[in-house]
Amino acid sequence: MNPRIALVTGASRGIGAATAIKLAQQGCDVAVNYLRRAEAAHAVVRQIESLGRRALAIQADVSEYAQVHRMIETIVHELGGLHILVNNAGYSSHGGIEQLPPEEWARMLAVTLNGAFYCAQLAVPSMRQARWGRIVNISSLRALTGSAHSPHYATAKAGVIGLTKSLALELAPYNITVNAVAPGYTDTEMNRKSLAEKGDQIRSSIPLKRVARPEEIASVIAFLCSDEAGYITGETISVTGGIYMR
Ligand SMILES: NC(=O)c1ccc[n+]([C@@H]2O[C@H](COP(=O)([O-])OP(=O)(O)OC[C@H]3O[C@@H](n4cnc5c(N)ncnc54)[C@H](OP(=O)(O)O)[C@@H]3O)[C@@H](O)[C@H]2O)c1
Repeated sequence: MNPRIALVTGASRGIGAATAIKLAQQGCDVAVNYLRRAEAAHAVVRQIESLGRRALAIQADVSEYAQVHRMIETIVHELGGLHILVNNAGYSSHGGIEQLPPEEWARMLAVTLNGAFYCAQLAVPSMRQARWGRIVNISSLRALTGSAHSPHYATAKAGVIGLTKSLALELAPYNITVNAVAPGYTDTEMNRKSLAEKGDQIRSSIPLKRVARPEEIASVIAFLCSDEAGYITGETISVTGGIYMR
């Protein structure tokens, strides 16, 4: 890959950290966004620097427009541009329709959907200027199947797919591709509790009989960010160990 500058949101751990490192291995300089875990983000930065690439740890809550604005200005100023955006920041919470507080519904949409929109809106000018860009939005298996216990999560992640297709259509003339990745169960902190409580049941429901390693999701994201994936746009790639066929 030509030297490119990437922003991965929520890159202090899990799928985001694995993606930031994979992109650095592909030759990118990487901005590592995080919300609270500064030390974890700096550890990712050190790993990227040990690969000979530049990296920047940058705190911002992606649901806050002003913070995203400051983050992207800093990246363009310090790293010299922005060509790749991976909208990965996210969290999970649970509550059925009668239990879910309206504030939690709003927070989930703000982090997942507003965050992806703000980051894309503010990153696109640099990509248009370069006449090359990649946006990968992280959706979820739950966007495709629905979720009885997390309607807000499934809805926000389904919205991410609509945003992906819309931006893909609008940005294609500028050589900017926009795709989504929909992971299934992945071994990260996000679902460590459910894996500890019912890991056997979860694994037996997956055709490949195991959960994904974060690096296995990151490989697909990094491929979509590469020159080789230049003719793929508007797609949602499921990476679920086959569970989506069930
Ligand atoms: N794990 C799975 O099974 C799975 C399945 C399907 C989809 N996904 C999706 O994949 C993405 C990554 O998940 P993961 O499992 O790697 O999660 P994770 O290990 O819990 O990491 C979440 C990351 O997002 C950051 N973050 C959370 N809220 C943020 C905010 N408002 N602004 C900026 N950063 C924020 C966290 O920062 P701090 O460390 O600073 O808190 C952390 O870096 C998420 O979008 C998730 O929905 C995960």
